[in-house]
Amino acid sequence: MFLVVRRLAWVASLLLCLAPAVLAVETPGKPRLIPMPVTVEPASGEFVITAATGVYAAPQLGGARSALQLLLAPATGFDFAPAADSEAGIRILFVPDIGPEAYRLETGQGGIVIGASTDAGVFYALQTLRQLLPVAIYSREVVNAHWVVPAVAIEDEPRFSWRGMHLDVGRHFMPLAFVKKYIDVLAAHKMNSFHWHLTEDQGWRIEIKQYPKLTEIGAWREQTVVGHIMFKDPGELEYDGIPHGGFYTQEEIREVVAYAAARHVNVVPEIEFPGHAESAIASYPELGNTGRQIKVKQEWGISKNTLKPSEETVQFYRNVLTEVMDLFPSTYIHIGGDEAPKDQWQASAYAQQRIVELGLADENELQSWLISQIDQFLTANGRRMVGWDEIMQGGLSPNATVMSWRGIKPGQKAAEAGHDVVMAPVRWTYFDYYQADPESEPLAIGMYLPLREAYAFEPVPAGLPEAKHKHILGAQGQLWTEYMKTPEHVEYMAYPRAVALSEVVWSPREARDYRDFMARLPRHLERLDVLEVNYRKPGNDEQGFLDSLETRFWFWMMDLYHWWSDRQGS
Ligand code: ACM
Repeated sequence: MFLVVRRLAWVASLLLCLAPAVLAVETPGKPRLIPMPVTVEPASGEFVITAATGVYAAPQLGGARSALQLLLAPATGFDFAPAADSEAGIRILFVPDIGPEAYRLETGQGGIVIGASTDAGVFYALQTLRQLLPVAIYSREVVNAHWVVPAVAIEDEPRFSWRGMHLDVGRHFMPLAFVKKYIDVLAAHKMNSFHWHLTEDQGWRIEIKQYPKLTEIGAWREQTVVGHIMFKDPGELEYDGIPHGGFYTQEEIREVVAYAAARHVNVVPEIEFPGHAESAIASYPELGNTGRQIKVKQEWGISKNTLKPSEETVQFYRNVLTEVMDLFPSTYIHIGGDEAPKDQWQASAYAQQRIVELGLADENELQSWLISQIDQFLTANGRRMVGWDEIMQGGLSPNATVMSWRGIKPGQKAAEAGHDVVMAPVRWTYFDYYQADPESEPLAIGMYLPLREAYAFEPVPAGLPEAKHKHILGAQGQLWTEYMKTPEHVEYMAYPRAVALSEVVWSPREARDYRDFMARLPRHLERLDVLEVNYRKPGNDEQGFLDSLETRFWFWMMDLYHWWSDRQGS
């Protein structure tokens, strides 16, 4: 059926003729910055950074020097020695009356002046300064470039406070070095949130000292299904016969958190509950509804094996989260909450008895009760629970933050009810979707999300009353790794769509212009080349109606599925 629909869409596209190609139009004299700052005023002249360039940093901005070391020292080899405030060079000044992530950057004959109220502001000013320099500044080794900065005056601040990227390391384990690189590249785009999806049916990736079997057993699966599983019966599935697994020790996790903090990136850990938890049940079968020993899952999809709604299960997860909170300073702790079918609870005498005992109406309220137990625990520990939008089923505690993935509507509903929301709708932010015609792309989960769609995303729902806009904290891109086995493949799917998203979440809405973005992108891709990012080269994703007809059909199907699953409470 998939193929038939694709063929129909292809014929329709020919009949309707191709949409005009998007022409890249460059504005002369304007530096090619991404994400585009709030204001950019090019001036005449330039400043050359040399080994003799000194740095004055205001005492209130204690992190300025380490940011310079991180962002400018590796490629230049300069030590940026401390200088008096009056000397020409780089001056980093404390400006108390601008926002916590805002900055001012002025470059010219007399030197470079940065103004910020926080270390984060300085960090973002330096990220912009890097984009004014030759792309060799992104090198990890000293290069013999001539470090000329064109004269410009920039004032900048982000539109949203949550500018995120997610990474699923449950389906395919990703090495520690890659996780750090992913964070580094994220920070280069002024993104500030890394959502680390650490537990899945197919693998538990975080060491928990109190429950060693979670990683002794839960981090490993015997083999993995081969190829796409859509429209296949279980008997038709083939397996690779190759064990897959891995996990991060607590020491490694601390290393990642510190690495991210130095780059002003908050790491939000996700521990899936009460669905997507087969690896936990395989490790400790008493967590399951049936008590039977199951294997760590080898196929993709939504598992009916959910957690047993017992006090013991809740306590187990409280204990897990105690260790998680010890490792992650993040205010936000993600507890999943998505895609937890109610079949086993419907069939389980124990779950039915719990519904009666707790005075609940049904299985949806049972899920809501479980989630509220975790919410209360996190809140009592000074944290805030965030979960996928299914956490609203059966009622939601007031403190909870909703990650709206099944479209814009759940996020709008949550914001109207006064909840904070992170927008992560499939339609615009699922970077595991195809970027172009599947025939010319590596295997992906399905759907289409071409670059221009990622750029067109608007996180604030059109129908949301103005007074509730403040509840839209921002947005994030998702990288689910069912069909991504390697870091290179993750990067291919992430970039350049995440580049587009970085502008969606940082730049003023009225400044967004896809043609202008496409004009700036080639220079940005040169930066990614130096960073050795395996991005997809934009090209045949601009083919006109083929994408959009097909996209519309598949997203319509997806909307229908989400409507149905919401009714089912799964
Ligand atoms: C999700 O994609 N299940 C959040």
